[in-house]
Amino acid sequence: MPISETKTNTAELLDLERKYCSFGDTVHYVEPPKIFVGCEGCYLYDEDGTPYLDLQMWYSAASFGYKNPRLNDALKRQLERLPQLACQYLHAEKVEVAARIARYCEQRFGVKGRVQFNVGGSQAIEDSLKIVRNYTGKNLVFAFMGGYHGRTLGASAITSSYRYRRRYGHFGDRAQFVFYPYCFRCIYGLKRETCNMYCEDQFARLFDTEYHSVWDAKAQTSEYGAFYIEPIQGTGGYVIPPREYFTRLQETCRKRNILIVDDEIQMGFYRTGKFWAVEHLGITPDIIVFGKALTNGLNPLAGIWAREELITPELFPPGSTHSTFSSNTLGTAVALENLKMMEEEDYEQMVMEKGAWFVAGLKELQLRHRDMIGDVDGLGLALRVEICKPDGITPDRELADQIFAEGLKGNLEARGRKYGLVLDVGGYYKNVFTIAPSFTSSRDEIDLALELLDQLFRRCRRS
Ligand SMILES: Cc1ncc(COP(=O)(O)O)c(C=O)c1O
Repeated sequence: MPISETKTNTAELLDLERKYCSFGDTVHYVEPPKIFVGCEGCYLYDEDGTPYLDLQMWYSAASFGYKNPRLNDALKRQLERLPQLACQYLHAEKVEVAARIARYCEQRFGVKGRVQFNVGGSQAIEDSLKIVRNYTGKNLVFAFMGGYHGRTLGASAITSSYRYRRRYGHFGDRAQFVFYPYCFRCIYGLKRETCNMYCEDQFARLFDTEYHSVWDAKAQTSEYGAFYIEPIQGTGGYVIPPREYFTRLQETCRKRNILIVDDEIQMGFYRTGKFWAVEHLGITPDIIVFGKALTNGLNPLAGIWAREELITPELFPPGSTHSTFSSNTLGTAVALENLKMMEEEDYEQMVMEKGAWFVAGLKELQLRHRDMIGDVDGLGLALRVEICKPDGITPDRELADQIFAEGLKGNLEARGRKYGLVLDVGGYYKNVFTIAPSFTSSRDEIDLALELLDQLFRRCRRS
């Protein structure tokens, strides 16, 4: 059968997908899977032309809006000029992107460093693990419970969810997972106002004696080479930690010669209102890993920045890492244009202002639906709405799933037309809407989002 004949209608497409596509990705998180045919700004469109306001923007990969004209033009120009080049050879955009990121880090943190590109976020995480192992001579790292660093084998080993590892054998170098300061659900049952960062104290105390299994006091060395952090947990539910936790954690790590690796794959490039989310925390990482929004979801490009001592040409010589599509010319061209755009426009102010407007609206929504919304929080345009039972704390995963599925039906009504709403559910208990709207959203679009959310909550109200 000619391929064109296979693309006739939705029912046939779904039938073909069922027969010929692996179910191993996340498409079947929704049944039946949803098909979209167009996108623009903060909207996705289904085959009937119904707009779906997207509040997740491809897990924050398309932060700068679908079909962003400036970024799409950069891609088109590169398509005409230098669309392909083996990454063994140099092209200007690669060098310029690396220089801009390294110079930014130098200005911001006062530390010199270098950039290494790869294709996707997980691959860049793998590269960062190589740098850590190579520099420290240690395989083991700390990472946070609720942390997500990707699904290659190495990245799965430092991602806390056992579900992602269960079928794939023994992970000898699995991270030691440490409680993240998730204050709404404090694991110790304490209150932020009075806890005095008890959770960080518990981590620091691990180094008190060799019998806590992380520190050899005689040799003055830890078995762990690095601590992997997400400044704001992404997949974990857009959890916003107290700054003081991290300033203390940095002290503990410095004292024990443990590197800090900052995973900015989801929160980097202004999602939280700063270029790097870690800037909110007042600490200086040794390695930063980035991806996603750098190319606004066009050609994939990810990478790491590492402090000079960790990545000198002597320590990390040619051939230390490689992937055919790393530093591809289309991705670097978009990334360069994007970095220029970030320098020219005041994203910090714009994202903080829009975020404040959105979070205020979400708090009003919470007042109206107290029996469904346990927590609302936000930093920049990384926002969270935690769905709970009427007691305000017991997670209500079923309700979150129901609201999510209802939004995808595309039959909400507002302003005289039909709309859908694209949400994403994350969090430790899969009961948190992790909201990452497009930076291009106008106030009016934010108000529309709030109106559509209100409608969804009213529709899904427990009887
Ligand atoms: C914080 C974080 N790290 C790593 C990854 C993995 O990146 P990728 O999906 O591009 O492999 C993700 C993806 O969602 C992420 O959010």
